[in-house]
Amino acid sequence: MKGLAILSALSSVAWAKHAVKTGLDVLIQSNYTQLAGRKVIALTNPTGVTPDLDLGVDVMFNSGAVNLVGVMGPEHGFRGTAQAGGSEGTFVDPGTGLTVYDAYNVNTSTIVSYIKESGADTVLFDIQDVGARFYTYTWALYDTMVAAAVANVSFVVVDRPNPITGVNAFGPVLNESYASYVGRRPIAQAHGMTTGELASMFVGEKWIKQAANGSDLILEVIPMKGWKRSMTWKDTGLPWVMPSPNMPTPDTALIYPGACMFEGTSISEGRGTTRPFEPQLLGGSFTNGSWVEKMRSLNIPHTNFRSACFSPTTSKFQSQTVCGLQSYVFLDSTRDYEEFDSVYLGVSLLWSAKHLYTVGNNDTGFGNTTQSFHWLFNGSNTSRYDVDVLAGGPLVREGIEAGLSPDEIRSQWEADLQAFRKKRASYLLY
Ligand SMILES: *[C@@H]1O[C@H](CO)[C@@H](O)[C@H](O)[C@H]1NC(C)=O
Ligand SMILES: *[C@@H]1O[C@H](CO)[C@@H](O)[C@H](O)[C@H]1NC(C)=O
Ligand SMILES: *[C@@H]1O[C@H](CO)[C@@H](O)[C@H](O)[C@H]1NC(C)=O
Ligand SMILES: *[C@@H]1O[C@H](CO)[C@@H](O)[C@H](O)[C@H]1NC(C)=O
Ligand SMILES: *[C@@H]1O[C@H](CO)[C@@H](O)[C@H](O)[C@H]1NC(C)=O
Ligand SMILES: *[C@@H]1O[C@H](CO)[C@@H](O)[C@H](O)[C@H]1NC(C)=O
Ligand SMILES: *[C@@H]1O[C@H](CO)[C@@H](O)[C@H](O)[C@H]1NC(C)=O
Ligand SMILES: *[C@@H]1O[C@H](CO)[C@@H](O)[C@H](O)[C@H]1NC(C)=O
Ligand SMILES: *[C@@H]1O[C@H](CO)[C@@H](O)[C@H](O)[C@H]1NC(C)=O
Ligand SMILES: *[C@@H]1O[C@H](CO)[C@@H](O)[C@H](O)[C@H]1NC(C)=O
Repeated sequence: MKGLAILSALSSVAWAKHAVKTGLDVLIQSNYTQLAGRKVIALTNPTGVTPDLDLGVDVMFNSGAVNLVGVMGPEHGFRGTAQAGGSEGTFVDPGTGLTVYDAYNVNTSTIVSYIKESGADTVLFDIQDVGARFYTYTWALYDTMVAAAVANVSFVVVDRPNPITGVNAFGPVLNESYASYVGRRPIAQAHGMTTGELASMFVGEKWIKQAANGSDLILEVIPMKGWKRSMTWKDTGLPWVMPSPNMPTPDTALIYPGACMFEGTSISEGRGTTRPFEPQLLGGSFTNGSWVEKMRSLNIPHTNFRSACFSPTTSKFQSQTVCGLQSYVFLDSTRDYEEFDSVYLGVSLLWSAKHLYTVGNNDTGFGNTTQSFHWLFNGSNTSRYDVDVLAGGPLVREGIEAGLSPDEIRSQWEADLQAFRKKRASYLLY
């Protein structure tokens, strides 16, 4: 009993520290006035929670104040049970009796049909983002905004923090000839924006109207209260719910905008370990201690590396012990966050792996079969490398192949990045 008392005291301390109210909290506190008289379909997942970790859909449903007519689930699903590239299919949610539509990587007309079938006049979006362009929730947002414009229904985004702060943007801006479900529009690889800000940009830049063949979208963002751009996830006082199976902690998100590019290589990005991406484990059967030496010699501010062996349980090098490295990032002040370029770290890791572990050009194996560092094609389509799709263009891969240094590679996108930073400034809400 004593233990219980202490526990509840602790949790009220934690509660008092919630410096930030998410858009969902603001909506709930307003007694849902913004949704009064509307028929709402929610695009959400397990991250759409209150600070008490109750699912927003359940809270809205139980309040009796919101007329919920359906739910849409993104990649990994509404209840979050699917691995990368998977979804849950369409089903009836036992808790609420609502139809949950599968909105992962479906076309606009399919989303329009979900909206029409549900009878909604409003789409509500509530999903925690991680700040990287290739996170598919951003493009689920975008596609659903286009569908909402086509269906002539309004769109409400309840905003949430960017877990890696919103102080700066880094990396290449997407080249639209590489547009895909991991990047549809020209934003930076680490965009430094919140979901509400991104949605405002999508509308403000006329991208939605253009994609919807001239139909306008009425967008409302319900902003957070108390969030500042310099806040780390910890500063927000909010509990972390894994946005996807390989995003176990907010620190994962910190290096993800660079680390994720290893998906497009023969090196394991740590999927199938308990610490995918963070602190970043990378390795292949051919990597060794030289990689750490090489990375340390680059003197990248705020980083260090150690040799690390691991055995992925799935994906590349499944059930093999590989010895590569683990990346560490040390960030303290706001200035550190303004400076730390996770995409540059990713480029440097790719660059050093390429220089140490390339053997000829004809090793195209995957996982267990590969003997060297190489770039993977995007599925069976040999006209496109996966890393180019992730990086939103060929600059990273071609720069490395051409023998450029990480700094030279970065300088190639500096002008576009500066232009993006300027554009972004007019959409910042905090
Ligand atoms: C919230 O709104 C519902 C109806 O929309 C109403 O019945 C209820 O009294 C309101 N609650 C508060 C606390 O205002
Ligand atoms: C959208 O996807 C559905 C289901 O896969 C398909 O039947 C339909 O033809 C597609 N529509 C367009 C415009 O591509
Ligand atoms: C869109 O919906 C509004 C009402 O919400 C209506 O006034 C308007 O005529 C509709 N536009 C079209 C093109 O259907
Ligand atoms: C986009 O990529 C294509 C194909 O690689 C290239 O021809 C074009 O110049 C690129 N555009 C920009 C703006 O970099
Ligand atoms: C817009 O028009 C083009 C060309 O007719 C068509 O291919 C596309 O599917 C349309 N988009 C939407 C969202 O209706
Ligand atoms: C690591 O592997 C590379 C490539 O095979 C080799 O050149 C290097 O000597 C190895 N380093 C160590 C410390 O074994
Ligand atoms: C890798 O090897 C292990 C053990 O031999 C095997 O269980 C696994 O299926 C292999 N994985 C792939 C991707 O080939
Ligand atoms: C290509 O593969 C063949 C057969 O595995 C090997 O003999 C040859 O050395 C490889 N060539 C290069 C350039 O690595
Ligand atoms: C190919 O790229 C798409 C994004 O366009 C991505 O969703 C998919 O996972 C990639 N396929 C492979 C096999 O990497
Ligand atoms: C392969 O990718 C290229 C570039 O995106 C595209 O033009 C082509 O249609 C794709 N081919 C197949 C078979 O998907």
